[in-house]
Amino acid sequence: MIIAGLSGANGLDLKLSQLLNAELLRVESKTFPDGETYIRFYGGVSGETIVIIQTLYPHQDRKLFELLLSVDTAKDLGCKEVITVIPYLAYSRQDRRFLDGEPISVKTVLKLLRAVGVDHLITVDVHKVESLRFFHGNTVNLDPTPLFAEVLRNEVKAPIVIAPDQGALSKARELAYLLHDSEYVAFKKYRDRVTGKVVHELLEVDFSGRDVVIVDDIISTGTTIANIASYVRDRDASKTYVVCSHALFVGDALTKVRMSGVSKIYALNTVKASEDVEVVDITPLILEAVRSLTRS
Ligand code: R5P
Repeated sequence: MIIAGLSGANGLDLKLSQLLNAELLRVESKTFPDGETYIRFYGGVSGETIVIIQTLYPHQDRKLFELLLSVDTAKDLGCKEVITVIPYLAYSRQDRRFLDGEPISVKTVLKLLRAVGVDHLITVDVHKVESLRFFHGNTVNLDPTPLFAEVLRNEVKAPIVIAPDQGALSKARELAYLLHDSEYVAFKKYRDRVTGKVVHELLEVDFSGRDVVIVDDIISTGTTIANIASYVRDRDASKTYVVCSHALFVGDALTKVRMSGVSKIYALNTVKASEDVEVVDITPLILEAVRSLTRS
């Protein structure tokens, strides 16, 4: 087996190659002066299973194209099969046509990956797991909730776990269960599809003196988390923790979240972590998934 990390491997390639005792293939990646992407493999892949790791943030389009070039090249050079690990799958939130005339972007991305030859696709907490049906090959979506529960277990006391919207409800339920069967609630969130404005329907729950854990898959502008965190702060919650799989923190998002009264943020290393965030390593789950795909 060969491990190849692209520009968005975020160190996971090295960790994986060491843990699997597998060769780490050097892949050069650069951008030509006119903006075109170039890659080159320094080593053969013929007859091998190759695991290509590439997260798709930041610079989603460039990283995606680099990945497409790499998979196609691996297949051209005669590799046996391609396992692609995409820790953060960009475009996953555009999983349907919200407005007439829009694309289903995640479908386009998954079709492209299959077309160039990805055999197995490993993702982490993809926005909606049902979207993976658009990939006509084998998919594995990793659930980081047990990892979050492990780090929070000794830190929070009888917390109330909050889903900031209905999409995060099952995540909140699972996390609450793993945190000694704690209480959980889900807000209703409405996003104006044209302006992007977010409004939460308020919940009449007594947060006073309680530790709160807000769980979500993605933090982008930070508005969703900040809205909920300031809501519970105004209702005298004790400490507020945030757990999130993909902390993109666009612009001033981190400051916005901090200002809303959040004590600690836990995020996966599916994208490069911002300072001030407690990183939860996703490597053990990726390792297990790669092992189970290559065992047979
Ligand atoms: C949306 O449904 C996602 O699960 C996140 O809640 C959303 O992407 C967060 O975005 P933002 O940080 O911009 O509020």
